[in-house]
Amino acid sequence: MREDFDRNWTFNLGNVSRAEDASFNDASWRKLNLPHDWSIELPFDSTSPTGTGGGALRGGLGWYRKTFTLPATDKGKNIFIDFDGVYCNSEVFINGHSLGVRPNGYISFRYDLTPYLKFGNEKNVIAVKVDNSQQPNSRWYSGSGIYRNVWLVKTNSIYVDNWGTYINTPSVSSTRATVNITTTLSGTGGYCDVTTAILNKEGKAVAVQTQKNLHVGALQTTRQVFSLQTPVLWSIENPYLYKAVTKVISNGKTVDEYTTPFGIRSYQFDVDKGFFLNGKKVKIVGVCNHHDLGCLGTAINTRALERQLQIMKGMGINGIRTSHNPPAPELLDLCDKMGFIVMDEAFDMWKRSKSKYDYSNDFDEWYKKDLKDQILRDRNHPSVFIWSVGNEIQEQWAKEGDTAGTAYLREMQQIVRSLDDRPTVTANNEVRSMNRLLQSGINELVGYNYHHGDWPPDSVTQKWGRKPFIVTESVSALQTRGHYDMPSDSMRIWPQRWDLPVANANPDLTCSAYENCFTPWGSSHEATLKMFLKYESISGMYVWTGFDYIGEPTPYPWPARSSYFGIVDLAGFPKDAYYLYQSLFTTQNMLHLFPHWNWQPGQVVDMWAYYNNADEVELFINGKSQGVKRKTGDELHVMWRVTYEQGRVEAVSRKDGKVIASKTIKTAGAPAKIVLQADRSAIQANGKDLSFVTVKVVDKDGNLVPDAANNIQFTIAGAGVIAGVDNGSQTSMESFKASERKTFNGLCLAVVQSTGKPGSIKLQAKSAGLAPATIDIIAK
Ligand code: GAL
Repeated sequence: MREDFDRNWTFNLGNVSRAEDASFNDASWRKLNLPHDWSIELPFDSTSPTGTGGGALRGGLGWYRKTFTLPATDKGKNIFIDFDGVYCNSEVFINGHSLGVRPNGYISFRYDLTPYLKFGNEKNVIAVKVDNSQQPNSRWYSGSGIYRNVWLVKTNSIYVDNWGTYINTPSVSSTRATVNITTTLSGTGGYCDVTTAILNKEGKAVAVQTQKNLHVGALQTTRQVFSLQTPVLWSIENPYLYKAVTKVISNGKTVDEYTTPFGIRSYQFDVDKGFFLNGKKVKIVGVCNHHDLGCLGTAINTRALERQLQIMKGMGINGIRTSHNPPAPELLDLCDKMGFIVMDEAFDMWKRSKSKYDYSNDFDEWYKKDLKDQILRDRNHPSVFIWSVGNEIQEQWAKEGDTAGTAYLREMQQIVRSLDDRPTVTANNEVRSMNRLLQSGINELVGYNYHHGDWPPDSVTQKWGRKPFIVTESVSALQTRGHYDMPSDSMRIWPQRWDLPVANANPDLTCSAYENCFTPWGSSHEATLKMFLKYESISGMYVWTGFDYIGEPTPYPWPARSSYFGIVDLAGFPKDAYYLYQSLFTTQNMLHLFPHWNWQPGQVVDMWAYYNNADEVELFINGKSQGVKRKTGDELHVMWRVTYEQGRVEAVSRKDGKVIASKTIKTAGAPAKIVLQADRSAIQANGKDLSFVTVKVVDKDGNLVPDAANNIQFTIAGAGVIAGVDNGSQTSMESFKASERKTFNGLCLAVVQSTGKPGSIKLQAKSAGLAPATIDIIAK
């Protein structure tokens, strides 16, 4: 049995001696519920040793404690504590005994509490020391603390081990599938039966098998082979999940029950034709994301993750790369349910460091265990298709005869192969033939980061032989939502070279949201997409990045503190490039016209449109046609260079002369009122669920004011709290944990969270000079 163990912890930022002792008095500590990220609560700080790369938010050392009792009936049970992830260098104590340390901030781990526990009225104390004080240790914002869920697991004397099932489907067709289920039992001895039932989506058993009289020593593995007729296959469009329910039966009693969701699908990476899922060609159009959830920091929240994935689906994305570390388990659960092709990544560095105090210092001691645990935890997820064992690993570059890097790679390959059959990859930014890791030929897939000029199949196979190819990372374009530098066809490559500070960029630290600003190692979205669409041999690509993330504010220094790479900004508001993907990878009629229509009279303005399902688009300014445009050749957008005049601009797309879609933008007047839009008006009253409320500043006629920067003050009443606020600006120094926010280019966001009690929630937004607005949300 697994219990949520997130509630009623105490927390202290700063080291305290003897805080691990059961008798320590923590009455003055702050009370909170997990998951928790303390760094997101701190002010941005130019002197933070995390640097702007780490989001200019401090790390530090913190302690968490939880006091709990266990009923006397639990005596004799095995009791474990599971941490999904603690950043970083955690040490866990139970009643004063150290259970162990774990340096890696992204790995899940379990401790056995059994020998140290007390029952009945006697109290137990878990204490967790989290040390993120040595900085810098990350190239992006890591967050600090017990930022993922914690579970208490109670079992009888014989039980299914942690991550104790392994399900794979070695042969799959539409008429039949073989399902292998290997179950690892643990316990102190005795005999048991193991029954596994495969349940379909409706919960109906479609197959059952029992193994009798297994003798459980320290560990016992048993394998059941099922043959399912007419299985429903897991796919992107229909991510169908089965469940394997394993029962351990001893002396006629069920002593453990363990559920493993899984999917049945076949796949293939082909050197010439790319990726196939269930025999059907699929181009993986993926994004890389870091793990922060914007204003919520890294504190995991299932709804916030789900929203991110929904936003990605909305532009036709079907792949997620968990850059550059094992993700929260909830992310993979959602990818299973929503249909994404996941590249599950292990490391951003091996023995050679990228920042002074990073995981390279722990690598030799921990990488085997960390990698093994990641594979054991994640290998039943049908959404996982690729294991990436490293991003831009410095060991790519090694002198002739230096085999350290390839020795690590070989070892990791063996670890993966001993546990699972999915292909491995390394994400390489060195694509010349001197790359030692690619030279070694150890990974099944050839993975490139960037270098889109080197993607033609001949160029890849000449260097690395006939191996399937995937773009592990691409693009790295730079954009600020709602900011446009003209002319739109003059390129800004910022910084001019990867190792130089940016020169001649925008004094207000913006980047243009036309496709005309990118890094020297990357390109515009369009330039990369053109190559991607051209070659069948490319299995897929993962664009850097789906969302802006905290930290790595390339190309700018302080006070920039979050990235410009996202197709969607940190608050979750799409930039224009979002609609480029939508035009290519979704099928519903769409037409996106940009930028806004508030310029200086007489100014020359470039108007762009992305569209699908149409032959042509015509642009009108105040009713006057500006001409008809068509995408020709490999073009992905159309553009008109026009002279601004106040009023309205309208685009109309047509197919065979019939109107498919139209878009109108009007010149906005002065800010007049606030408009609130909640993504969900009903949420669960569980203390975790969220409603994301978009705040718009509009003129008296309801037009979005494209440069509105009004300070919005929120008040909330009822069964909700404000969990965070944001506006997507990469340079805002305002706190994410506040009840006010300035709009940035017309928009800001308030995230409303249920308190745990059912009831109505009223969010009010006001600002000097603007008509206020309120919105009702119900928690049930
Ligand atoms: C890549 C790297 C990413 C990120 C990106 C920014 O080289 O893998 O982690 O730093 O560059 O463009």
